[in-house]
Amino acid sequence: MQENIRNFSIIAHIDHGKSTLADRLLDLTKTIDPKKMMPQFLDSMDLEREKGITIKLKAIRMNYNFEGQDYVLNLVDTPGHVDFSYEVSRSMEAVEGAVLLVDATQGIQAQTLANLELAKKQNLKIIPVINKIDSPIAKVEESVEELSNLLDILPDEIIKISAKEGTNVKEVLETVIKEVPPPSSRRSPEGEGGPFRALIFDSEYDSFKGVIAFVRVVDGEISDGEKIELMATSTLAEVKELGFLNPAFSKQQKIKAGDIGYIATGIKEPGKVRSGDTIIKLQSASTKGSVKPLPGYQDPKPMVFASLYPENPDDFDVLKVALSKLKLSDPALVFEQEMKEALGRGFNCGFLGTLHIEIISERLEREFDLNLVISTPSVVYKILDNKDKEVLIYSSSDWPDQSLIKKTEEPWVSLEVVAPSNQMGKLMDILKSLKGNYLETNYLSPERAVLVFETPLRGIIANLYDKIKTASQGYASMNYKLLGFRPGKLVKMEILIAGKKEEAFSRIVAEDEAYQEGKKLVEKLKEVLPPEQFSVALQAVIGGKVIARETISARRKDVTGHLYGGDVTRKNKLLKKQKKGKKLMKEKGRVTVPTKAFLEVFRA
Ligand code: GTP
Repeated sequence: MQENIRNFSIIAHIDHGKSTLADRLLDLTKTIDPKKMMPQFLDSMDLEREKGITIKLKAIRMNYNFEGQDYVLNLVDTPGHVDFSYEVSRSMEAVEGAVLLVDATQGIQAQTLANLELAKKQNLKIIPVINKIDSPIAKVEESVEELSNLLDILPDEIIKISAKEGTNVKEVLETVIKEVPPPSSRRSPEGEGGPFRALIFDSEYDSFKGVIAFVRVVDGEISDGEKIELMATSTLAEVKELGFLNPAFSKQQKIKAGDIGYIATGIKEPGKVRSGDTIIKLQSASTKGSVKPLPGYQDPKPMVFASLYPENPDDFDVLKVALSKLKLSDPALVFEQEMKEALGRGFNCGFLGTLHIEIISERLEREFDLNLVISTPSVVYKILDNKDKEVLIYSSSDWPDQSLIKKTEEPWVSLEVVAPSNQMGKLMDILKSLKGNYLETNYLSPERAVLVFETPLRGIIANLYDKIKTASQGYASMNYKLLGFRPGKLVKMEILIAGKKEEAFSRIVAEDEAYQEGKKLVEKLKEVLPPEQFSVALQAVIGGKVIARETISARRKDVTGHLYGGDVTRKNKLLKKQKKGKKLMKEKGRVTVPTKAFLEVFRA
């Protein structure tokens, strides 16, 4: 019965203890055999365990008896990092409530605010919880004050727990039962008992069962073996198996409205099962078109791009297959084949942010045993050409000649930095250097404030996170939201090595920062390129004009070393010959940039 189901998530800033709380809930509901229990059960991916962060959301079904009634509690886990807010919003579509968890040793952080905003948008019931009260450095009363100010509630409405020791965790579980509404509250306008509709919030590939979709059933019910349609891709399939996640697949005969579970589709092409899509039953000719898709998710829009090349060009096909496989569980990842002279074939890939790049590249290296060359990330730009056509530019090699461009635009974001009030000065200096607009400072309590800026995304992906972490000794956190494109004076900077353009080093820069960028790049190149037998000019060029230059001196070959004594005429003759030879080489001179040098510049 839907009245006894509760679907909820735990939302928190990174490391505030979400997975630990989930572990305690699993203990309390005896969902997992104690022999199989390992800490942070929901973080099952190796990489997640190592980095201690949650990347992919997973759902788990628990049973609990409260006041004589049996309840089913579906916990949908969510990631906490800024790059994955899309996944957070997906999981929130599947639930009616959220436990908002704040670490008492840290207080409210940027992701606490961002996740709370998403939860409010979905009208979720919020259960406020302060964690880590056992810690000697916990500032419980301060955190309670911040949270009650933020939510505009009384301090005693906040549950104080230690997820580590289990203190008051039972109260969290029972408050979820009492306060989170049953799924029927979120009934679709078409009403209960309408035709079957389920929302896909995640998926994974199984070589026997095909793509397995993780779903929230919104209306109706579906049984094993029935024929289904995936609306966005118009794909027809048959249910191979369905059931709940306990957390292993627990096969059932049917699943129905309010349930969170899985449907094995038998579909072998991963791209056909999209998160956010609606599954319905196969319609007859007479009912076709009568079932509407659920108000869906937005397509994730990658805004940060980087090139990925296999270090060994023979691994190109492995990389191609690996990217397609990762895309299945990560719809935000996009990729397109490209070619760079020195590196061979690779992919220009779109990501949600820099942590996303890091995670994808590590997964490629670990799970597929690939060694990769990864370029410095860049954002997507928009230009208006002289025929008034808007073009999105995902790679600097697609940037047209300056004479064909009327206007250039770049993505801007609204940026929130949460930090202790006494660190605002230092952080302000860093944020001002991004050349954005300062908007306001909001105080969460006298000790903690939020700085709000609007700024180009370009500055954020250039390691802003590390900079503010370092400046604040780890106390500041940040979050950003895309605002859209805004005009900016942008130009393409090219690099000439011995007079020859090396497209792989081209990049888009702000006109007023071009000089510093160019200088930095040619200096770096000078450091990493091996000397040739002739001197090599390194030039940064914009629209044909050299803006920075360095020279790598020739490697002198000792042509006179074998001569004894002082036969000056002979020595001079040999040196003259060498000089002539070098001049000839320089005229013909082609410099082959070693892959290692590309790597070092890319990674700089
Ligand atoms: P992400 O999945 O990356 O968002 O992190 P998380 O929120 O799941 O945090 P996780 O549960 O991994 O906990 C982060 C760290 O805090 C771990 O080292 C935990 O052992 C520790 N921790 C969690 N809960 C408590 C608590 O109640 N008390 C203390 N002292 N430490 C805790």
